[in-house]
Amino acid sequence: MAKTDSIFQKRMNRHQDELKWLYMELYQNTDMFSELCDKMYEYYSGRGSALKKRDAAREKKPGWYKKNDMLGMMLYIDNFAGNIKGVEKKLDYLEQCNVNYIHLMPFLDTIEGRSDGGYAVADFRRVKKELGTMEDLESLTGACHEKGLNVCMDFVMNHTSEEHEWAKRARKGEGEYMSRYFFFDNDAIPAAYERTVPQVFPVTAPGNFTYLPEIGHYVMTTFYPYQWDLNYRNPRVFNEMMYNFLFLANKGIDIMRIDAVPYIWKELNTSCRNLSQVHTIVRMMRMIGEIVCPSVILLGEVVMEPEKVVPYFGTVEKPECHMLYNVTTMATTWNSVATRDIRLLKQQMDIVNSLPKEYVFLNYLRCHDDIGWGLDYRYLMQFGIGEVSHKKYLNDFLTGQYSGSFAKGELYNSDPASGDARLCGTTASLCGIEKAREEKDKEALEKAVRLDLMLHAYMFIQSGIPVLYSGDETGQENDYSYHADPAKQDDSRYLHRGKFDWKLAEKRTEKGSIQEKIFTGLEMMEKIRKKVSVFGSDSDVWTIDTWDDSILGLIRANGKEKLVALFNFSGQDKTAWINEDDGEYTDLLSGRKMQAKGVDIPGYGVYWLMKKI
Ligand code: GLC
Repeated sequence: MAKTDSIFQKRMNRHQDELKWLYMELYQNTDMFSELCDKMYEYYSGRGSALKKRDAAREKKPGWYKKNDMLGMMLYIDNFAGNIKGVEKKLDYLEQCNVNYIHLMPFLDTIEGRSDGGYAVADFRRVKKELGTMEDLESLTGACHEKGLNVCMDFVMNHTSEEHEWAKRARKGEGEYMSRYFFFDNDAIPAAYERTVPQVFPVTAPGNFTYLPEIGHYVMTTFYPYQWDLNYRNPRVFNEMMYNFLFLANKGIDIMRIDAVPYIWKELNTSCRNLSQVHTIVRMMRMIGEIVCPSVILLGEVVMEPEKVVPYFGTVEKPECHMLYNVTTMATTWNSVATRDIRLLKQQMDIVNSLPKEYVFLNYLRCHDDIGWGLDYRYLMQFGIGEVSHKKYLNDFLTGQYSGSFAKGELYNSDPASGDARLCGTTASLCGIEKAREEKDKEALEKAVRLDLMLHAYMFIQSGIPVLYSGDETGQENDYSYHADPAKQDDSRYLHRGKFDWKLAEKRTEKGSIQEKIFTGLEMMEKIRKKVSVFGSDSDVWTIDTWDDSILGLIRANGKEKLVALFNFSGQDKTAWINEDDGEYTDLLSGRKMQAKGVDIPGYGVYWLMKKI
């Protein structure tokens, strides 16, 4: 390798042995490895001085993202502000939302109508024309950094769009490019894969392969037919994708969300999920980042049960992702909304709270995707609750089919063959705000707002980083307009991907409006969370019995403070039969002084009872 500067060299020295070892294990190719190292230095050298400063500062404080002052928001650039320049003009609003991390939903070049919401990338180095340019992105990330905002983007590494240059050349039959994907000239191997590989979109995109008649080949397409799976057995694919990663990092991205990461390695006769090579690749990516751009952190998208998610943190000596989604908690939260029963949620909290405190989870109520019912059915079995009937109940309740339900959601990938379906809808609509507003039912509306705030209070109480879904801060409802759009109508996730309603947002300053109640309610919690030390991830957290299956009780404690949090998941007024140590607690949300004993709690009520110790 050519001569490099001392900072780079120092970082390289730390990782080189392991990086080389892993690379050789996977690829046995020294030329490609040395090309990788040269390119890493090239990207390091090309990194702007402001970003290098950021790297240096964060190397000194590697736990910067673990503090309780972190608050995220995810948003679609076009829905929120038209284009990237528009987002830059709206940074004041984001500041008012108290967020210091924004996840910009996919914005790279993609083909309209065949884009999977931007997750089918046609060019990793070009911004989608309608949204702006790479210069706009750099300007936005610079402006964000000045305001203390971190910027997150999706790095869609499992596949490219069929319109990506590699795919176009592969379709022409160029062997070099065909080898970057999975091509088969007959259906024998695809059929063999289908025997063990589950389907991601069983209804909207069944099967894992697509036949290309023009060249008489099958190509692997785990997601939509226009998303061609990349073949990471080919070191060229790995190297080029790492160069893309570094290119984007150099545009000022702080958090790389590695999309669909469990899927990136395929092996016949397996489920093609979570294979050991995936971890090798993520570990290499972590080291490459730490060498070239150490201020950039990895957020893994692993939408699976906890025992499958946790390995993506890696080990203490060999860490992989910095952060992962707390997906089972999210789904279990909506389970508790629909059942008014917290037993499964309590069990889920016990699992999460028993994990090492170093693990940083991203907590959320809603995101751009559907809610999949990946619950712990083994646990539910003891109450005689079966998977298929329970999913049906949840979906019936949350789509408003069940009598007495207040929610308005829609099904996603409802598969009559298996009886399986997932769910879409905004937080506000799932909490009943939409229905109550339509029916002009004041009492129901008040309850719905209370539920919405209670769920957020519950999200904020968890260790990790809470992430709001843009529009939730103003109680934005479902957007049904996608039904009339041929490019979107088959994908009900667009129900909760509507345009941000700025008129509605203006109402956040109108005293007594729904928007004001939600916006200021969240604001209060956000500020408390950032300020009070017991919200730090170094606190101990455990659940307590409340002797009522609708009330979740949680305690957070550090050496100085103790917080008893109570959440009533039912619409009925209840009593939490707790009996915490004597002394006066203060409810941080209302300022009320009270004892943490036999606490009366209104329907969908919440308490954050705090005491100095
Ligand atoms: C991730 C995204 C989802 C997308 C899929 C395929 O799961 O969150 O929206 O459909 O990847 O890229």
